[in-house]
Amino acid sequence: MTPEELAAVGLRLDVDGAVATITLDRPEVRNAQTPAMWLALGELGASLPDDVRVVVVTGEGDTFSAGLDRAMLDPANAGEGTVLGLLALSDEDASARIEEFQRGFTWLRDPRFVSIAKVRGHAIGAGFQLALSCDLRVVADDAKFSMKESALGLVPDLTGTKPLVEHVGYARALEICATARVVTGEEAARIGLATTCVPAAGLDAAVADLVAALVSPMPGVVTETKTLLQGAADRDLDEQRRLEREAQVRRFRALAAAFAG
Ligand code: CAA
Repeated sequence: MTPEELAAVGLRLDVDGAVATITLDRPEVRNAQTPAMWLALGELGASLPDDVRVVVVTGEGDTFSAGLDRAMLDPANAGEGTVLGLLALSDEDASARIEEFQRGFTWLRDPRFVSIAKVRGHAIGAGFQLALSCDLRVVADDAKFSMKESALGLVPDLTGTKPLVEHVGYARALEICATARVVTGEEAARIGLATTCVPAAGLDAAVADLVAALVSPMPGVVTETKTLLQGAADRDLDEQRRLEREAQVRRFRALAAAFAG
């Protein structure tokens, strides 16, 4: 997608070698999200250069994202591709449409790279779920997560429920989603939702340090490791250690080729 096409849906992409930074760039509405933005995110994720090894997702200004653009709940915006436009579809077609929206979030799990949500200020609803779609969350102490969907009569449907349960456990996830309460940056780090919480003034440096550490291993190592770890909870020990062996043999061969080359 061209910078102009991305700008039209409130996104910015900066690629610097192995690091891609995606910025939600609608600060005037606190980086509120639209279906057009989700479709573009999915497209953008599928077209990142092969040598990108870290993707940083962030928001312009002091807010990560205020979630769904409330204009999408205005009956005046009930056209195709909007949230209210789903009402005109059959259940099956509406579900298929939401699946297209979800692809704007799922690609962040791709083992080709490690994704980092860099969160300052509010991360509400779809904003919270976008942060949850990333592998890691580095948050400022002014971060405020809220799964606000229940307060609007909705459920979180942008792929956030599974990682939330994985990070904080079922009971805490239910409490956070059902009450829509605010989880501060400090609490997020304490309950395993965020990798780390730092003073807001130190957020850029903390993310830069993490990015540098993640791109430091040989290309391919982190991808193999992420693949191993991603599915570990769903596998038994024998299956997991078989995959460890197979990955290691690939690493041996890659190292030998690198030394020979
Ligand atoms: N959609 C559209 N515009 C939004 C917005 C949103 N979600 N959030 C904020 N804005 C706009 C405001 O209308 C305001 O515009 P004007 O300057 O034209 O009045 C501007 O952004 C600044 O907003 P605030 O003055 O409220 O800014 P703040 O810094 O005081 O507060 C905030 C920030 C806490 C995020 C607050 O704006 C807020 O609570 N926003 C609504 C959050 C929300 O309910 N989001 C929906 C979550 S549910 C979801 O995401 C569902 C889903 O995917 C299915």
